[in-house]
Amino acid sequence: MGPTYKRVTTNVLQEMKNNGEKISMLTAYDYTLAKIVDNAGIDVILVGDSASNVMAGHETTLPITLDNMIYHASSVVRAAKRSLVVIDLPFGSYQGDSKKALRSSIRIMKESEAHAVKLEGGSEVIESVERILKAGIPVMGHLGLTPQSIYKFGTYTVRAKENAEAKKLVEDAKLLEKAGCFSIVLEKIPAKLAKKVAKSVKIPIIGIGAGSDVDGQVLVLHDMLGMNNEFNPRFLRRYLNLYDEISVAIKKYDKDVKAKKFPNNNEEY
Ligand code: KIV
Repeated sequence: MGPTYKRVTTNVLQEMKNNGEKISMLTAYDYTLAKIVDNAGIDVILVGDSASNVMAGHETTLPITLDNMIYHASSVVRAAKRSLVVIDLPFGSYQGDSKKALRSSIRIMKESEAHAVKLEGGSEVIESVERILKAGIPVMGHLGLTPQSIYKFGTYTVRAKENAEAKKLVEDAKLLEKAGCFSIVLEKIPAKLAKKVAKSVKIPIIGIGAGSDVDGQVLVLHDMLGMNNEFNPRFLRRYLNLYDEISVAIKKYDKDVKAKKFPNNNEEY
């Protein structure tokens, strides 16, 4: 799909799956980059809680707050003319209390004007999923590696390699579909299992480290642009090496300032 201004909706994503068209999704956390992503024709912009790592420098996604997420989400929504904008419910804003989950989702929808929310987990959070959906708010699920549970897993390695976890993941995907979720993200699971899930449910399955036999792909924008040279999972394809390119530009500026070469006569009033 090219960059037209016809808004991508949850129905459009379903049509894309039905027609066998792949769905593209990237994260964004600010107005400037979201504008580039939207204009480039990406179908879904995820304001991920990975902002906790990427924007704030935290080790995990746990510290980011609902207020932080709403700030990032509002900036992205102001930029997105075509993409569907999905916002992560941060850790602590929905687990174990479905009424709190609904209040958090309503705040996101009212204060940022986003189009949908995403949350992590299956049967453990189904009451929250159902309550949010009943209020008319579209929900995207997230299964497999769910970073908000990192201290339960203890590691960021591939999930659902064992039969019991794989079986639960397929059941959770069906549960989320039955509840009314419009899509599910599958993170870092075997490609064979992801293919099975994408065939077992009718709603679009978006993968990250889940192979190619799913309905769409998502990456963290800063990772695929190569702005971070410390994160090197096998699933990451870097389309640029911006860390090096930006460093070269900044060093050149520093050198010019110190050598009194910036500004020159044409750059002053
Ligand atoms: O927070 C995030 O960026 C995500 C993606 C990795 C799917 O949830």
